[in-house]
Amino acid sequence: VPVSRIRNFCIIAHIDHGKSTLADRMLQMTETVAQRQMKEQFLDNMDLERERGITIKLQAARMNYRSKDGEDYVLNLIDTPGHVDFSYEVSRSLAACEGALLVVDSSQGVEAQTLANVYLALENNLEIIPILNKIDLPGSEPERVASEIEEVVGLDCSDIIKASAKAGIGVNEILESIVHLVPPPEDTVEQPLRALIFDSYYDPYRGVIVYFRIMDGTINTGDRIRLMASGKEYEIDELGVLSPDQIQVDSLHAGEVGYLSAAIKTVENARVGDTITLAEEQAKEPLPGYTEAKPMVFCGLFPTDSDQYEDLREALNRLKLNDAALSYEPETSSAMGFGFRCGFLGLLHMEIVQERLEREYDLDLITTAPSVIYRVTNLDGEVMEIDNPSLLPPPQEREKIEEPYIEVEMITPETYVGTLMELCQSRRGVFKDMRYFTLSRTALIYELPLAEVVTDFFDQLKSRSRGYASMEYQLIGYRANPLVKLDLLVNGDGVDALAMIVHRDKAYYVGRALTEKLKELIPRHQFKVPIQAAIGAKVIASEHIPALRKDVLAKCYGGDISRKKKLLQKQAKGKKRMKAIGTVDVPQEAFMAVLKLE
Ligand code: GTP
Repeated sequence: VPVSRIRNFCIIAHIDHGKSTLADRMLQMTETVAQRQMKEQFLDNMDLERERGITIKLQAARMNYRSKDGEDYVLNLIDTPGHVDFSYEVSRSLAACEGALLVVDSSQGVEAQTLANVYLALENNLEIIPILNKIDLPGSEPERVASEIEEVVGLDCSDIIKASAKAGIGVNEILESIVHLVPPPEDTVEQPLRALIFDSYYDPYRGVIVYFRIMDGTINTGDRIRLMASGKEYEIDELGVLSPDQIQVDSLHAGEVGYLSAAIKTVENARVGDTITLAEEQAKEPLPGYTEAKPMVFCGLFPTDSDQYEDLREALNRLKLNDAALSYEPETSSAMGFGFRCGFLGLLHMEIVQERLEREYDLDLITTAPSVIYRVTNLDGEVMEIDNPSLLPPPQEREKIEEPYIEVEMITPETYVGTLMELCQSRRGVFKDMRYFTLSRTALIYELPLAEVVTDFFDQLKSRSRGYASMEYQLIGYRANPLVKLDLLVNGDGVDALAMIVHRDKAYYVGRALTEKLKELIPRHQFKVPIQAAIGAKVIASEHIPALRKDVLAKCYGGDISRKKKLLQKQAKGKKRMKAIGTVDVPQEAFMAVLKLE
């Protein structure tokens, strides 16, 4: 295909605004995927993704399209993930395109996610084509939402395409505008090879499959390639295009999108953002923008049954083959026994990994509350990074302690500005800016400690705004604060897995709230169980769980056997997720209690 006939584009949309539906519809209209083999939402092919309705991993699809002017074009759709945790992957997939469809639900409006991705698209100089979707809905307000896009995003919307991905309205118009508005790639076929990796996954039979966009030069099956960031070299076994099934080809050139396999053993060796060049004829400079996606949120994972420790190690090992951003190392806890300290990009990433471990590997895990990385400077001026609160050195050994800060941009209807400001204030937020666009769209900008956001901030934002507010964040650096370690003691024993780092001014409140919560969550035993919160040797809050007096079945007066059975089953199920700490059984929920203090 001549470069002038290629169009590379992606779709930017807030979750649920119809990205997958539109992609499916385009595949159908261009007859890329025959009607009968069309599974719903072709592009989201991980089960977990489909269940949760979110796109995690990006993929690509190549469509052949004959436009109204009678010319044949190749349209490459590059899918982008839709969650803050994966914003680095979004930026890399945008860098592989010349244009972006901005899909906005015409019954809703512009959300923080949309806006953040539009900024990324503008940074990458993409041509942005705005589209109002779901115009078939009775609640659709195309005029209002169009003016909102003009106002908030600053795009001319006088010719905005009105579409319904579901009903197939406006899709032809969208295909035409891709051909006419998105610029073709630059013709740099003669230059040394440079291809941008925008996704990769591990296939147990072929090794890592790499998805790339060629920026310069040509690539052939059998070529020896070099990955410029990892420094590794491989020989290409297989080269192809995504249609969206993999179809082998011998050669691809500048402007094209494809996949390759080269016996690469783990995705860590072919990370998103890395540049592929030829080992023989290397490019001088890699493509700009490569950074390593670094874990931001950490937690401990412990098998409820210590016999599962080796299984857990094996499972993490396998997940890691496919997830360069996941990190883990062995952790020994005096309370919990052997487990792993794991690092994730964010909370969603953490939930996904936990869920996969339990579902695909059949493990029963206890997860400790999420923590961020603290930077601790000791008296000799040495800096260490602490991702586990129980390892924080005592105050007399540290000079200062710093924590990561983020800038959060929230977009909300004006009515909820007050309650969201309260939320941010209660999380040690620093107000930065407020911008008013329309009645339904006010942007609120705060700087917040990441630790205050990785707990239940997002849930709070959603419930306080009845689901209307959205948010986006980026890391802005580290700041020193008077932080202290709060220890929790159950039955007189310190439980390292419950230790946390809090701001001095909040320690009393958190200590009290946490002991009260643990009292609710830990079941009664045959003996009285004291629960205490302490800073150093000083107890700042205490509660106790009274001893169990009667047999639990005594409550089921009468001989209702099915009810008894149910109760026993419920207990048995509860048991599964308990960890014995000394002589006290502590349930999974207790380790997450800190997330539910409000
Ligand atoms: P994520 O994959 O979570 O990012 O969502 P998405 O943006 O891909 O949205 P998706 O295509 O899954 O659509 C979300 C919901 O909106 C689905 O229930 C679709 O059936 C519905 N939907 C999509 N487009 C339209 C449309 O044009 N009209 C109507 N009425 N519903 C639509």
